[in-house]
Amino acid sequence: MTSVLGVAGSPRRGGNTETLLDEVLRGAAEAGAMTEKVVLAERDVKSCRACNACARTKVCIQKDDMVSIIEKMREAEVWVLATPVYWWGPTAQMKAFIDRWYSIPRDVFRGKRVILAVSSGGGSPYSDLMVRTFGEIFAYLDMEEFRVLQTGGADSKTTARGDEHLMRDAHAAGFDAVKTLRV
Ligand SMILES: Cc1cc2nc3c(=O)[nH]c(=O)nc-3n(C[C@H](O)[C@H](O)[C@H](O)COP(=O)(O)O)c2cc1C
Repeated sequence: MTSVLGVAGSPRRGGNTETLLDEVLRGAAEAGAMTEKVVLAERDVKSCRACNACARTKVCIQKDDMVSIIEKMREAEVWVLATPVYWWGPTAQMKAFIDRWYSIPRDVFRGKRVILAVSSGGGSPYSDLMVRTFGEIFAYLDMEEFRVLQTGGADSKTTARGDEHLMRDAHAAGFDAVKTLRV
């Protein structure tokens, strides 16, 4: 069975990005996948300390929740990363998570299908740079950027939920990512 891992990067539970993420995961489940969600704000994911020990040992010296999250990353064929734009970039929680990728062997990333879900108050002028940054990271790690979901004007917690078109797109992204996966 296909396994899909969702990673929620907003500290605001039930906000726009988590709503998008949940809808992607619902679509994936309807396509027959097993889904799991990690809420970074509720996990202990410490910042990279730049000690560079991982260059030698291939593992991080910090034994926090990243250990179990890496196992989930390894097992899932599809990842869904969700974050709001905070100052043209991802949230601190999502950035700490990404920085910790530094210690993870390349084979964990290679060929992974990824859906990116982002939300912002100001729309494209604020989110485009971050979407591009993620695109560069995915390409560098030989991942497959399957779809990007973006909502702007989303200062209220419920903006995404009220956008029927966007919710349909989110559901379809999860469904299609699983259905079209070559196994
Ligand atoms: C600390 C902080 C920084 C933000 N910076 C930006 C920004 O630079 N550009 C923007 O368009 N929206 C910005 N926003 C608005 C959020 O991106 C927007 O409200 C988003 O929909 C929140 O997602 P959530 O509901 O999943 O938490 C910021 C919000 C916060 C709390």
